[in-house]
Amino acid sequence: MINFREEIIKILDSEIEELDKEKIEGMLETPPSYELGDFAFPVFSLAKIYRKNPAIIASELAEKIDSKYFERVENKNAYLNFYINKSILAEEILKESMDKDTHFGKTCEGKGQNVCVEYSSTNIAKPFHIGHIRSTVIGDSIKRIYEFLGFNTIAINYLGDYGTQFGMLICAYKKWGNREDIEKNPIPELFKLYVKINKVVDEDPAVKEECREWFKKLEEQDEEAVELWKWFREVSLKEFNRVYDVLDIHFDSYNGESYYSDKLPGIIEELREKDVMEESQGAEIINLEKYDLPPAIIVKSDGTSIYLTRDIAAAKDRHETFHPYVSIYVVGAQQSLHFKQLKATLKEAKYDFYDEIVHVPFGMVSLEDGTLSTRKGKVVYLEDVLNKAIEKVMEILDEREKTSGQKLENKEELAQTIGVGAIKFQELFNGRIKNYVFDWEKTLSFEGETGPYVQYVHARISSLLKKGNFDKNNDIDAKLLTEDAEIDIIRSLYNFNQVVKDAAEKYEPYFITRYVVELAKNFNKFYNQTQILVEDEKLKNTRLMLCYTVKNVIASGLDLLGIKAPEKM
Ligand code: ARG
Repeated sequence: MINFREEIIKILDSEIEELDKEKIEGMLETPPSYELGDFAFPVFSLAKIYRKNPAIIASELAEKIDSKYFERVENKNAYLNFYINKSILAEEILKESMDKDTHFGKTCEGKGQNVCVEYSSTNIAKPFHIGHIRSTVIGDSIKRIYEFLGFNTIAINYLGDYGTQFGMLICAYKKWGNREDIEKNPIPELFKLYVKINKVVDEDPAVKEECREWFKKLEEQDEEAVELWKWFREVSLKEFNRVYDVLDIHFDSYNGESYYSDKLPGIIEELREKDVMEESQGAEIINLEKYDLPPAIIVKSDGTSIYLTRDIAAAKDRHETFHPYVSIYVVGAQQSLHFKQLKATLKEAKYDFYDEIVHVPFGMVSLEDGTLSTRKGKVVYLEDVLNKAIEKVMEILDEREKTSGQKLENKEELAQTIGVGAIKFQELFNGRIKNYVFDWEKTLSFEGETGPYVQYVHARISSLLKKGNFDKNNDIDAKLLTEDAEIDIIRSLYNFNQVVKDAAEKYEPYFITRYVVELAKNFNKFYNQTQILVEDEKLKNTRLMLCYTVKNVIASGLDLLGIKAPEKM
């Protein structure tokens, strides 16, 4: 597709000797409204060079520029405003649509390079609660965004399946646990044990010692300890996978913390050889004072391993296995310090891959009736939230069937598509760092800026295409698309690829959420204002081709958010 921005840069570069390409590129702006053009170039800074009034410079330049890509180049308030030639733009869009069909806007700057995306990273024997939706859904979207740009992604679920808490859990199970109860209702039962032992440990140092002993046994591969740990892991994963299936989110690797436990002696040995650690109260640490960070504890005084050290092993493993272009960690903002320490530690230890690591933090989600806390034992399970959303949508669909008198096909599947889609959409609607309150009303509304609204527009276009007997091979003429509503859609479509690139660069899926809402709204405006199925065959087919392109881009956009686009709703 023609890159109009680049065209302007080329033109200005040849017209203005005093500025180089990079400078021009940096100066080129997108005006606040299309009335001021599609692009604007400020000329203030040229006044000094030319010793001329900026307005005069702008109008002289405007006069000189003659390019078929722009219908007008105008001088306004010392800005040079460029107006794209709309029929060239429309032709470009429809041509791309015909060439790439459902892959409209897809490019391959990734050239197959690897990108590791770690997300979800749930903890064994602990609830998969509503708070986990953030990392799970944001991470999955980031993975999809990089895939779209031609990267090869590796989706990693770094399971929290190791650490001293497993000593506590084994100890609790030995004291109070019942195998049958756990088999029946794994996570709540295991979590109950975990909450109970935490209380006891606080009051009874002897039990604390017992827990430590059990963890040591686990580290030393004691048969009973390992058997129990494996069992906890297995029953928990089975539960988690049920939720991942409903979410339609899947991973390439479940190498969690335990996977790295036997790689730790090697790491510690390497760090000792590199002579970057010092002793501190019986522990071995790396001093990070020069980074303004607390020291990284590599080996604890009791010889047991810790979270940070396992992350060093995991980072090294990901680097050596995948040589990623970037290695992304989608983890809550509460762990920002941890990731700063991780990067600084890697740098201190002269692991030169430290800068491929990117922590992508996010804020917290809470429910209307209060915050979420696992430690207090008050938990909202993600599975329950998803099921409730599906149920509520089911009620809405039942109601619709009643009022319309028409039966919906695959109602159950549709309810899941809409319910889960609605939750993901709301989750991805704002910048990720913002805390937000989960709002049932808003999430499941079919109007306004919601998932169901966008899905509905997609379904509406599908039925329109059927009604109009749309065929890709019909004769069309892009020049016929001249109405404002059509041009607005064409402009949106033109932006799609850039929006995806920006989302990738900033790790912000919400760019795409906002984009599909805008496209859907633009479409609805067009749909309400314009007769699409007109007598004139060519005009009708051209308009349908535009609709078809919108449908494909909405479907791609939703797919980048991990949301399905139903044909009927
Ligand atoms: N399982 C951890 C938690 O729930 C998150 C893991 C973050 N990833 C990492 N590489 N440390 O807090």
